[in-house]
Amino acid sequence: MANLFPSSANFLPFKIAICIGTAVAGVALAVSYYATDKTLAVGYQPDQPIPYDHALHAGVVGMDCRHCHSFVDKSGHANLPSANVCANCHAAGAANNVGVKHNSPKLKALRDALESGKPIRWVKVWDSPDYVKFDHSAHVNRGVSCFSCHGDMHKTRVVYKSKAHTMAFCLDCHRNPEKHLRPVEYVYDLDWTAKVYLTKPENEKMLEKLNTWHEKRAAEGKQSVALTERSSPSSFQKSLGIYLKESHHINAKVSCQTCHN
Ligand code: HEC
Ligand code: HEC
Ligand code: HEC
Ligand code: HEC
Ligand code: HEC
Repeated sequence: MANLFPSSANFLPFKIAICIGTAVAGVALAVSYYATDKTLAVGYQPDQPIPYDHALHAGVVGMDCRHCHSFVDKSGHANLPSANVCANCHAAGAANNVGVKHNSPKLKALRDALESGKPIRWVKVWDSPDYVKFDHSAHVNRGVSCFSCHGDMHKTRVVYKSKAHTMAFCLDCHRNPEKHLRPVEYVYDLDWTAKVYLTKPENEKMLEKLNTWHEKRAAEGKQSVALTERSSPSSFQKSLGIYLKESHHINAKVSCQTCHN
């Protein structure tokens, strides 16, 4: 096994699972091992040191995800914001000398963090096991939205695990990414849908071109979806998704080494 899974000090549960004998027994063992951990359950909603509200900041105020999760399109890891990012609006005297709610009891942990210089201790909600390789920028820069993996965060008041990131969840999309792909510039617009986008009057030409492209593919016997205004939202998504997958040469791999060392 050593050459199959090199440099894997943190890989023990995975190795045990693989080496236990039959794959079925191994997977069952690993599932029961991890399933006992409450942090893995859908719905997991830990108390946070500050009752920070995405629906208010990203929804009502309209802040872009990257304002706070500024590495999400630049590295594998999506960072949480430092206290200074909040202080830009909430510190006394900030934001045109208003200091939005700077005395609020809800912001006590922010004031403490700014005074002590120690980070705010947010509790992680989504946390992949160490033996899984994951990369944010590889997804968001190829047209996979936060929405596909974290749900409607812009309407969420208290973060909870809205979707389980199981292996089946990852593989479902790696096998059929066309159900999720969108133009990269709309990755951070969590309300975006292919049907609303393609039926806007200004995108009429684009829809015509897309249909012509699919007609040609249909004639060649390739996977294709022709659209009319009455097509379902999922047909619109699939039609555009196939186009984006082909034209951007998107190939989400399914070999074990894609996600495991
Ligand atoms: C004003 C800053 C800010 C903005 C804007 C913001 N977030 Fe957050 N986000 C946070 C903070 C702080 C946390 C950690 C506290 C919490 O979970 O509530 C967080 C947590 C998260 C988490 C959970 C991380 C974990 O622990 O697993 C996800 C997912 C997330 N944000 C996605 C988004 C998305 C998507 C957007 C854009 C629609 C967005 N955020 C906009 C500040 C922000
Ligand atoms: C761009 C400015 C801006 C940034 C940056 C910002 N906020 Fe806010 N925040 C607001 C506004 C606006 C409100 C709503 C104030 C109101 O209700 O009058 C608010 C409200 C709040 C409240 C509710 C306060 C209360 O007493 O009702 C909390 C808690 C909060 N923000 C936490 C945070 C945290 C934590 C961060 C950093 C991760 C952050 N905010 C970053 C603008 C901002
Ligand atoms: C393809 C699925 C996928 C997409 C798309 C995705 N995420 Fe994540 N996200 C994950 C996974 C998996 C984790 C857990 C990663 C880990 O534990 O290292 C995570 C974790 C996070 C965290 C927690 C980071 C931490 O260290 O606490 C934040 C914040 C986050 N994502 C924000 C976003 C934002 C914002 C977007 C969109 C711009 C986004 N994610 C898009 C799958 C995704
Ligand atoms: C909604 C669709 C979707 C989901 C869900 C998803 N992925 Fe992906 N993944 C993609 C796409 C698309 C790419 C980019 C492929 C390309 O660049 O051609 C990708 C690329 C990757 C890469 C980079 C591979 C490389 O070629 O370097 C890794 C690693 C990865 N995914 C792991 C994961 C893991 C782990 C999960 C589950 C936690 C996951 N993905 C969930 C669609 C998805
Ligand atoms: C697209 C990413 C991806 C690919 C490809 C992938 N895995 Fe996984 N795998 C995961 C994720 C994510 C988990 C963690 C699931 C969880 O925490 O619930 C996982 C967990 C596992 C586990 C632990 C048991 C379990 O199901 O939770 C085993 C064993 C495993 N994978 C074997 C494999 C093998 C063998 C392959 C190749 C045939 C493979 N994986 C390919 C993402 C992937």
